[in-house]
Amino acid sequence: MSDRIHTLSGYFHEYQKSVSQPEEFWARIADSFHWKKRWDKVLDWNFEGPDVKWFVNAKLNITENILERHLFTIGDRPAIIWEPNDPNEAGRTLTYRDLYHEVCRFSNVLKAKGIQKGDKVIIYMPMVPEAAIAMLACARVGAIHSVVFAGFSSTALADRINDCEAKMVLTSDGNFRGAKKIPVKAVVDEALEKTTTVKEVIVYQRTGQDVQMVAGRDSWWHESVEGQSDTHQAEEMDSEDMLFILYTSGSTGKPKGVVHTIGGYMVYAKYSFENVFQYSPGDVYWCTADIGWITGHSYIVYGPLLAGATSIMFEGVPTFPDAGRFWAIVDKYQVNQFYTAPTAIRALQAHGTEPLEAYSLDSLKVLGSVGEPINEEAWHWYHTHVGKTRCPIVDTWWQTETGGILVSPLAGITPTKPAYATLPLPGIQLAIMDPEGKELTGNSVEGNLCIKFPWPGMLRTTYGDHERCQQTYFAAYKNKYFTGDGVKRDHDGYYRILGRVDDVINVSGHRMGTAEVENAINEHPLVIESAVVGYPHEVKGQGIYAYVICDMKNRTAENLVSEIKDTVTKIIGPIAKPDKIQIVPGLPKTRSGKIMRRILRKVAEGSLDNMGDTSTLLDPEVVEQIIAGRV
Ligand code: WTA
Repeated sequence: MSDRIHTLSGYFHEYQKSVSQPEEFWARIADSFHWKKRWDKVLDWNFEGPDVKWFVNAKLNITENILERHLFTIGDRPAIIWEPNDPNEAGRTLTYRDLYHEVCRFSNVLKAKGIQKGDKVIIYMPMVPEAAIAMLACARVGAIHSVVFAGFSSTALADRINDCEAKMVLTSDGNFRGAKKIPVKAVVDEALEKTTTVKEVIVYQRTGQDVQMVAGRDSWWHESVEGQSDTHQAEEMDSEDMLFILYTSGSTGKPKGVVHTIGGYMVYAKYSFENVFQYSPGDVYWCTADIGWITGHSYIVYGPLLAGATSIMFEGVPTFPDAGRFWAIVDKYQVNQFYTAPTAIRALQAHGTEPLEAYSLDSLKVLGSVGEPINEEAWHWYHTHVGKTRCPIVDTWWQTETGGILVSPLAGITPTKPAYATLPLPGIQLAIMDPEGKELTGNSVEGNLCIKFPWPGMLRTTYGDHERCQQTYFAAYKNKYFTGDGVKRDHDGYYRILGRVDDVINVSGHRMGTAEVENAINEHPLVIESAVVGYPHEVKGQGIYAYVICDMKNRTAENLVSEIKDTVTKIIGPIAKPDKIQIVPGLPKTRSGKIMRRILRKVAEGSLDNMGDTSTLLDPEVVEQIIAGRV
């Protein structure tokens, strides 16, 4: 049964109900799922703790809502269509029946290897169906998965393994990305030298490259599933048991493990998927994200599969073998809903419209955007050249912490406006706050975006440090979840996201904490101090600009800059590598020693004429020197 909204008046009606009677509203949505035991109470909450529980005491297994639920109705429908990196390699299609058996088989492997309810399993894998199978098998046996993007370095991987005390790592020998073959297992081996909790590693063979297998610890995926039964009795889980931990960057140096729990996340992922994308049975849906990010969790795996959808999983990159690859895939599988990031749109826009010309793109009905603000130019290009002005664009605003999309048009229902995420989904009560902590009511206002009532998909805690969760999200404004984003509500009541107001920058749709990048830079032995800011970047949205004070030790600046870039790649991964590094004699600091980032941001973006008040600086001259040495 679907809870799809069909008209604009239907949306307003549902929204009204979701605010006036939230518990009745969500109980009705949740009723369409399979629960082993129904809840005693829909919602228990306070934002002071915070302590939020949805579907209290209900029992379920989320995979029964994906697998058993669809087995006898749409068992032959494709669940996952996999498109490999190389267009000449054959793809794979897994029907819901295939997926059921594969997940069961791998659940039996996990049990055989001693994984129990509550154990943490790290998934560090390329975009292959086995990555989704691994996630679902964890959920089926009650283990908590933590997917780590396979582009992160061994240090970043080790930090995450240590933080959640993972018992097992699921990985692959290597990873194909465009023309490159990336070692994956070797990174895991390096990470495991810095950890002690991992007892088992299972390696999926993808590239066939040589790997070291450690006896007693490592086994091959294909060997471990051999002879395992393809049925498995799903573990009974509590609605508030953890489903997964996903690490994300914040204002402080250390990434935090965002915790999502089973019942609420399940209900929200499916509901938001069906409504935002207006998915109809039989449609082919494609989200280009990586499963290492929340978008991959909610809108490649959980949301679509809960809805019985056909979800495409693509291993490669948009420009391999050429800049027409996305469009070739759209035509090949007759994709109806296509969901990508503005950074990909801008990168393809730079190749012009020629790569599109060979393709009809007639199957497309809905286009989606996620991860960062979409600029108007990219919006229009997407709308005109990809959607042929026929397809509504859903600009979906949300976060790792929110579990699912919170502000977005419903495709074809909500009138869109370029660069606007438009209106909140049912159940989402937004508040715009001024710097004094007062809620700004009415239209034509701008401030910080908060949410004042719980929704089922929200985070419950940050793993191992509840206090940090409280401080980061619930301390800035009393009784409100603070998103970290600035927002404008225009004269029509439409929402436009203005970007982060904290020390988080958004590089190609990837969240990076400036402190995290600074910590990595500071690992270079000759670095004395650094300060990182974001600046507008044509393709990436924001680029990383680093100001670094170094002990030059007879090195050239050029030398040091490339060494510092390598250091960051080694500590975090290539996605955090600064675009620009400027070696500076000093940093603009106040007398109390605080770095004035406002000035550094202005220099990085090149607005040099108005530096604002620099009279409180300890050494105003340093600003002149920084401007003179701008890169
Ligand atoms: C930004 C990604 C503008 C925002 C799902 C948010 C957006 C952060 C949009 C979360 C959008 C995401 N318009 N900004 N449509 N979507 N953002 O956790 O700053 O990787 O706080 O989740 O991305 O990034 P995250």
